[in-house]
Amino acid sequence: MIVTIDGPSGAGKSTVANQLAKRLGFRHIDSGAIYRALTLLALKHNRDIEGEDLSDFFRGLDIRYEFLDDGSFRLLVNGEDVSDAIRSDEVSNKVSIVAKKKEYRDIVNDILRRLVVGGDFVLDGRDMGSEVFPNAEVKFYLTASLEERARRRYEDYKMMGIEKDMGDVKKELEERDEKDMNREYGALKKADDSFYIDTTNKKIKEVVEEMETKIKERLQKEEESDADEYFQQLLEEKREPIMEDIEGIKKGKVVHIDDSVV
Ligand code: DC
Repeated sequence: MIVTIDGPSGAGKSTVANQLAKRLGFRHIDSGAIYRALTLLALKHNRDIEGEDLSDFFRGLDIRYEFLDDGSFRLLVNGEDVSDAIRSDEVSNKVSIVAKKKEYRDIVNDILRRLVVGGDFVLDGRDMGSEVFPNAEVKFYLTASLEERARRRYEDYKMMGIEKDMGDVKKELEERDEKDMNREYGALKKADDSFYIDTTNKKIKEVVEEMETKIKERLQKEEESDADEYFQQLLEEKREPIMEDIEGIKKGKVVHIDDSVV
């Protein structure tokens, strides 16, 4: 089963995706982490992110997720764990240049589609439900007010030991929203069939529970429709012999009815 969570920076996507994955026994993929990993490797190899075509370089990278039991993950590039390095300011400032190019988005989307084959996943990003996984079973669009998202980002920085001005954090977010929403390819967009959740005044636990309920409802519906299909099929198979028996009874024939008919 595929569950997608899209929304702007600071809406709480990764936190809830992680907890949701843990509760459901699914795996969590943060698609932004792959854009960040490509950016980090380009910077590490002193490539010109804006000027060069880095498609071959990016395609040659061995990108792997290592899923941990607590619902979190580590990201490995060519065997090296880059999970922490991709969160640096330098990467954050450059990643939107990589994320706006269609060729690079196609590479990331191929990686994502390959990763999820045959499994149960929660994927978060900007275009997971609208573009990359249009047939996902359950889609969510998470958002929160700019003030609340800035407050959360500010707290995240503080936890990482980085002192920032709240006004600057808010401005950074506004700029990122503008880039995410207005780029030509893979722009942040709510998929028509997604559940909209405003997390501004909600606790993480509340949001996760709300999402879990929607997913379980969906799973239940799937089970019911599978059962319906099964009984329809059974009915089709049995219809002809039953009709023959009924015709026979009408003509006075003695028929034997066993529990396979019932
Ligand atoms: O969610 P994040 O801040 O880690 O995302 C990093 C960058 O990647 C950000 O510029 C948005 C972009 N991104 C994207 O364009 N499409 C996605 N599916 C996920 C992230």
